[in-house]
Parts: sequence; C-alpha cells; structure tokens
Amino acid sequence: MPAHRTRAALAVLSAVALLSAGHAVLGQGEPSSGGAGHAGGPGGAQSQPQDEQSVIPFAIPRAGPFNAAEVEIRNSEAITDWFRSAHADAAAEAFRHWDEDEEINAACATCHSGEGFRDYHGLDGTEAGVVNGPIDTGGVVDCGTCHNAGLAEVTEVEFPSGLMHPVQGVEASCMTCHQGRTAGTDVAAAVAGRETDTPDAELRFINPHYATAAATWLGGYGGSGYHYDGKTYSGRFFHARPVASCNSCHEPHTLEVAFEPCLTCHQADEPQGIRISRQSYDGSGDTSKGIRDDIAANADLLLDLIEAYSAEVALVPIVYDGSRYPYFFADSNGDGMADQANGKAVPYNAWTPRSLRAAYNWKLVTADPGNYAHNPAYVLELLHDAIEDLTGPLGRDMDALGLLR
Ligand code: HEC
Ligand code: HEC
Ligand code: HEC
Ligand code: HEC
Ligand code: HEC
Repeated sequence: MPAHRTRAALAVLSAVALLSAGHAVLGQGEPSSGGAGHAGGPGGAQSQPQDEQSVIPFAIPRAGPFNAAEVEIRNSEAITDWFRSAHADAAAEAFRHWDEDEEINAACATCHSGEGFRDYHGLDGTEAGVVNGPIDTGGVVDCGTCHNAGLAEVTEVEFPSGLMHPVQGVEASCMTCHQGRTAGTDVAAAVAGRETDTPDAELRFINPHYATAAATWLGGYGGSGYHYDGKTYSGRFFHARPVASCNSCHEPHTLEVAFEPCLTCHQADEPQGIRISRQSYDGSGDTSKGIRDDIAANADLLLDLIEAYSAEVALVPIVYDGSRYPYFFADSNGDGMADQANGKAVPYNAWTPRSLRAAYNWKLVTADPGNYAHNPAYVLELLHDAIEDLTGPLGRDMDALGLLR
C-alpha cells in the first residue's frame, strides 16, 4: 500500500478510536488490518490475517465458526428473507441460462445451482473439486448450499489464479461462487509474444464474469486483475475486524448490507458516501465525496481512453454495450453503434495486447458494484495502471490528469 494511503488509514484509526469509544468494537481496527497489502499473485500466501479471529464472522462471535448442522431450519423469517433475495430468484438469467439445454454443464454448475455447488465440493458424497456430471436446471442458491454440515470440512477454495485460499465455515460458499472465472495471468498468457499495439484478430475479449466480490476482496493476492510489469498491488482488504468477512456486512438471507454498523467507524449519509482518504484519486481534488466516486470517475476515464486508443492507435473504433455479451463490439464507422452482420452485432476484432489488458481490468473492476467497500486500494491501482498504459501511445499527459495511485 502506498505511503499516502497508509497515512490516511492511520489518521482514520485515531478517529475510529474516538468515535467508537464505549462500543464493543473499540480497538478492533488494528493498524495491521490497514497495511497488510502486498505485491501479490498466485501462490503468495503471506497475506493471511495474523490473528485467526479476524476470519470468524462477527455476526456469530460466541458460537465460533458457523456450524451449519446445528442450525435448525425453522425460522420462517430466514425463508422469507431468502425468498426475496437474488439467490432465490429462479427467473433470473443466472439460473435460466441453461433452460434450452435442459441441463447445466459441469463448468457452470458449481455456481449456478445449489446441487452443482454440493457436487463440486463433494457434499453429495462424490469426489470433491469437480462437478461429476451435468446438473438439472431449475436450481437456485438453496438453503442446503450454505446449511450443509459438510461445508465445515471445506478448508480452502481454489481461485482462478490457482491460489488456494483458506476459508472457514459458510464463507467457503461465498468465496466459491463470487470469485469470477479468470485471472490476470489468463490475460498475460493470451497477449504473450504479440506486438503491444498491433491489432490481432486472434485476440478475444476475456470476461472476468459477474458479481466478482471475492476476487476484488482478495486483491493482488487473489491475482484476478491484470498486473502491469514493475507495479506492486495491494493484497486482501483487511478493513477492520468487525467487517472482515462477507457475512459481517451482508445479511446472508436478504444479502443486504446494513448501513448503521458502518457508522461506528465512518461518517457518511450512505455507504457510497464513505471516505477516509484525504487525497483525491481522480484528479478532481474533491475529497468530500465517497471513495466510490473516485473509482467510478477513473473507470469512466479508462473506458474513454480505451475508445480513443482503439480509434486513434488500433485504428478500429470500439463500442461498449453492457447489455450484450461479449460487451465490446466493432464500430468501423465510429458512429457509436455496433457493426451488424447477419443481424448480429460484430464482436470487437481488433484487440491489441494493450487494449485487451486495459478492457479486462476495466470490466473486472466494474463487474463488482461493491468494489469500493470490497477493496478500494486494489481497484484504484488497476484503473490507474491501465490509464497510464494507454496515455503513452495516445500522447496524453498522464501527469496533467492529476491521478493518484
Ligand atoms: C470497526 C471500524 C469499521 C467499520 C465498522 C467499518 N469500517 Fe470501513 N473502514 C475502516 C477503516 C479502519 C478503514 C481504512 C482501512 C484501510 O484503508 O486499510 C475503512 C475503509 C473503508 C472504505 C474505504 C475508504 C477510503 O477512502 O479508502 C470504505 C468504502 C469503507 N470502509 C466502507 C465501509 C462500510 C460500507 C462499512 C459498513 C458495512 C464499514 N466500512 C464499516 C473501519 C471500519
Ligand atoms: C465461479 C462461479 C461461476 C462459474 C463457474 C460460472 N458462473 Fe456464471 N455467474 C456467477 C455469478 C456469481 C453470477 C451472478 C451475477 C449477478 O447477476 O449478480 C453469474 C452470472 C451469470 C450469468 C448472468 C449474467 C447477467 O448478465 O445477468 C450468465 C449468463 C452466466 N453467469 C453464465 C455462465 C456460464 C455459461 C458459465 C459456464 C461456462 C458460468 N456462468 C460459470 C458465477 C459463476
Ligand atoms: C448464502 C448462504 C445461505 C443461504 C442460501 C441460506 N442461509 Fe440461512 N444462514 C446463513 C448464515 C451464514 C447464517 C448465520 C447467520 C448468523 O448467525 O447471523 C444463517 C442462519 C440461518 C438461521 C438461524 C437464524 C438466523 O436467521 O440467523 C436459520 C433458521 C436459517 N439460516 C435458515 C435458512 C433457510 C430456511 C434457508 C433457505 C430458505 C437459508 N437459511 C438459506 C447462510 C445462508
Ligand atoms: C452456489 C453459488 C453461490 C453461493 C454459494 C453464493 N452466491 Fe451469492 N449469488 C450467486 C448468484 C448466481 C447470484 C445472482 C443471482 C441472480 O442473478 O438472481 C448471486 C447474488 C448475490 C448477491 C446479489 C447480487 C445482485 O445482483 O443483486 C449478493 C450480495 C451475494 N450473492 C452475496 C453472497 C454471499 C455473501 C454469499 C455467502 C454467504 C453468497 N452470495 C453465496 C451465487 C452464489
Ligand atoms: C465492508 C463490508 C462488506 C464486506 C466485507 C463485503 N461486502 Fe459485498 N458489498 C458491500 C457493499 C457496501 C456493497 C454495495 C452495495 C450497494 O451499493 O448496494 C456490496 C456489494 C456486493 C455485491 C454486489 C451486489 C449487487 O447489488 O450487485 C456482491 C455480489 C457482494 N457484495 C458479495 C460479497 C462477498 C461474496 C463478500 C465476501 C468475499 C463481500 N461481499 C464482502 C459491503 C461488503
């Protein structure tokens, strides 16, 4: 973590101590939670919490790790809450996508059905680490996905980078499904040996997938972003102990994030307004807005630069359409509309290594609407480095943008 962020973190820590006097959380925002980021990548297991306690959801402090087998399924409130959540939304694309095939293939089933999830982790008595066969359609993230005695034996989850991340209790579930499907090393492998600024029809957009919260959260240590040569990246966002696990912020049935607990340590009108950094990352100089706005501004700038680079350097304009896979389309006449062939939009076909890695990082950051709470430092670094990489060949002055990393 860069020095200015650490300073900001220390500044807030003293503020935290003042604000939270009398609360049970006093003293839990230990400095190590703020500065533990490191240059990461697959295999680097250094960035583990020093203290085992910090991985236990604070929502269940006395019981210790969540023991699914001991929770009686009797609470109608849990059912009602869950039923209204995205996990139960049987009509969602995330669960209906395979309707025509009438079965979910193994590569997708782990995360798109409770049955596939249990199969993957061997909770159905089959081999662990693999989905053994096609899975029936019609499943959702059902109760037995998280309330499953076998989950206690899942002690690590593999990430797309190859990282084996230790998990405890129910977090095994969130970390399995919300990790995305790609690693920065996939991008590095795709562009290896190709000319940096030469359009290459063999290159295809690499989509990190959706709702990639766990990937953001683990930062450079998880290795999901494309890491530029010579740069170091913040690791897992340790934040502060009371908010150190998925379920300490997300109610596991509604999936919603309660805002009041944040106010123990932060002053803001809404989660999106939270900021502790005293510096501006987006060159606006405005530190009254939430850190989320700095991230959003830099993401917007990066998309603008990807478009400018494609038109001015790769010489084939690109257009982004978030409603259609694979999201980036060719726009040869530069009118802002995707080219059409046989009634279909033409996927962008003039990627260069430079535009591909930038678009990948942009998509990874924006695929997580909670990025600002999951790992602000890491996403700001990914955006900054991609912006910097594009300004060179575009002849833009990086310093004049006034961005901070
Ligand atoms: C126990 C204290 C504590 C609680 C509770 C807490 N935070 Fe934090 N938060 C911190 C500390 C300390 C930092 C700085 C950490 C760092 O930079 O490493 C921080 C940083 C952040 C940042 C980044 C701000 C910036 O300018 O970089 C965001 C966003 C954030 N918290 C959101 C939340 C949300 C949302 C909640 C409630 C769900 C919450 N926090 C609850 C202590 C807390
Ligand atoms: C590592 C877990 C994981 C795997 C493996 C996975 N997905 Fe997903 N996928 C998700 C999650 C989580 C979402 C939910 C995003 C959201 O809507 O919030 C999602 C969403 C989707 C969506 C909905 C996107 C949208 O725009 O609403 C489609 C379509 C999809 N996945 C297709 C696939 C296909 C096809 C495969 C297999 C080739 C696959 N997924 C494998 C985790 C996964
Ligand atoms: C995404 C994971 C997940 C799913 C899906 C899920 N639960 Fe839970 N559930 C949890 C976690 C985690 C806790 C512990 C929360 C705590 O102690 O604060 C919990 C707690 C409970 C409790 C204890 C009381 C409470 O509300 O804290 C009951 C009862 C319960 N769940 C029932 C269900 C039922 C019934 C379903 C399906 C309709 C379901 N859960 C689906 C994760 C899940
Ligand atoms: C079996 C895979 C699976 C598990 C386990 C799982 N999720 Fe999800 N999650 C999904 C999918 C798929 C969606 C998108 C569903 C949809 O589009 O309706 C989703 C949606 C969400 C959303 C809302 C996203 C949105 O678009 O509104 C949140 C928040 C979330 N999950 C958090 C969690 C947490 C926290 C846990 C662990 C307690 C967890 N999930 C466990 C697959 C999973
Ligand atoms: C510090 C609190 C905090 C922690 C810890 C946390 N989240 Fe979040 N999460 C948030 C906030 C805040 C949002 C943004 C909600 C919003 O803007 O509506 C969010 C958004 C999300 C979303 C997108 C929801 C949507 O509306 O599309 C998903 C999925 C998600 N989180 C999953 C997770 C998972 C999985 C973990 C653990 C790896 C996790 N979160 C850890 C606070 C947290």
